[in-house]
Amino acid sequence: MTTQQAAPIRLPGPRTEAPVNLPDIIAQQEEIFVQRQPESRRMASRAGHALAGGVTSSWQSTRPQPVWLSHGRGSKIYDVDGNEYVDLAGGYGAAMAGHGHPAIVEAVRGQVGLGTHFAQPTRNAIIVAEELSVRFGLPQWRFGNSGTEVTMDAVHLMRAITGRDAIIKVEGCYHGHHDSVQVSVCPDADEVGPPGQPRSVPSSTGIPKAITDLTLVVGFNDLPAVARLLEGNPGKIAGMIVEPIMMNSGIILPQPGYLAGLQELLHAHGALLTFDEVKTGLTAGPGGVTGLSGVTPDIICLAKAIGGGVAVAAIGGSAQVMSHVTDGGYEMVGTFNGNPLAMAACRAMLCEVATPAAYQRVEALRLRAVEGLQREIARTGLSAHVVSVGAKGCVVFSAGPVSDFRDFLEIDDSCSHAHWLFQHNGGVFLPPWGKTEQWLISVQHDEADIDRFVDNFGTFATAMRG
Ligand SMILES: Cc1ncc(COP(=O)(O)O)c(C=O)c1O
Repeated sequence: MTTQQAAPIRLPGPRTEAPVNLPDIIAQQEEIFVQRQPESRRMASRAGHALAGGVTSSWQSTRPQPVWLSHGRGSKIYDVDGNEYVDLAGGYGAAMAGHGHPAIVEAVRGQVGLGTHFAQPTRNAIIVAEELSVRFGLPQWRFGNSGTEVTMDAVHLMRAITGRDAIIKVEGCYHGHHDSVQVSVCPDADEVGPPGQPRSVPSSTGIPKAITDLTLVVGFNDLPAVARLLEGNPGKIAGMIVEPIMMNSGIILPQPGYLAGLQELLHAHGALLTFDEVKTGLTAGPGGVTGLSGVTPDIICLAKAIGGGVAVAAIGGSAQVMSHVTDGGYEMVGTFNGNPLAMAACRAMLCEVATPAAYQRVEALRLRAVEGLQREIARTGLSAHVVSVGAKGCVVFSAGPVSDFRDFLEIDDSCSHAHWLFQHNGGVFLPPWGKTEQWLISVQHDEADIDRFVDNFGTFATAMRG
């Protein structure tokens, strides 16, 4: 692959104004956190014997200790110590239906009695595919069980169709844990390479360098970088995968014309465009960012919220793309793909939960949250701003805007951690790893939930400025 001219490395600068006593604030909040959860501590210690690392996924190893949950109901979740939380984490953005939503419960309960697995298609799969076509504008769909599976299929498809091996991905985007996309997900400042010419940095161990080298990296919102790669590697690039709104670096919005520009550039070079809408899918709006932007890519990947809390994923393609599946050019397979349980939950989510009325309600709550947080930021003079879209939003601890991963790298994550602790101790469960993640408002949240969130933020902001 060709390289571009090296420019000087920009070292991370202090975008975040953190108070000098922040370590003390964090220590105090972590102490409260641990004291509220003795049973979680006992569970974590027992789990350490039979569960590797004491958790079921490495991202559950949160500081100061993992939180063990007992159940969820409506907009709330409960830990094993009996503490109640307003759930604004939504299980990393999947629980947009909230917990125990009657439509999901009925659909799942009904299907369990009728059989949960046949490895043969059932009627609901057609209804779900038709509904996704209407919302996302792509004519044909298949299913998987996780975001990782469908982004892997998307990369395979782009390669199979074009006969090319290289792909482009954006620095700071996460697309799951398969080899081709575990590249430059959250590299350190001393690894990233010069601006305009990011290095392909492996984001996990166990990935052959030969595969990492096939993933070329660009900054978000940088169309010229994509053009340079396409021109410098004629006939070699199969396509590009991108989160059309970045949601693994806080929330970073595309600049006007960016998404349409990507499509134009890629198509001009015989390459394909995949939108990874695993996070944004139903949460940014009824038809995701595809619906909001009016740019319909060649391939769309969905997961998380579409299953109403049940594991399911979907991949949609243009007629041209999916003809390669139809004619056997690419075998898209999986024992549990489109299983009846997932399809029943997905149908209920799309047809009964994520309705126009639900989106109106979520929008009203979004506005209430944003206004409340901005009021507290103005009152305390905290160096922060709020970014939100649809059901998702986050507080960015930087006074200035963030337009790519390099800006994001300059933000201190201790403020987000302190915020997470204050919310947690105040009965609101935000996603851990607060700098990278967002809140999710479900269809079951209400005004009181949002007010508790804003009140906790006010307490936190006062402590930070005190
Ligand atoms: C944008 C994006 N794509 C893909 C994935 C992978 O999804 P899963 O964890 O279901 O494999 C994630 C997970 O967080 C994601 O945020």
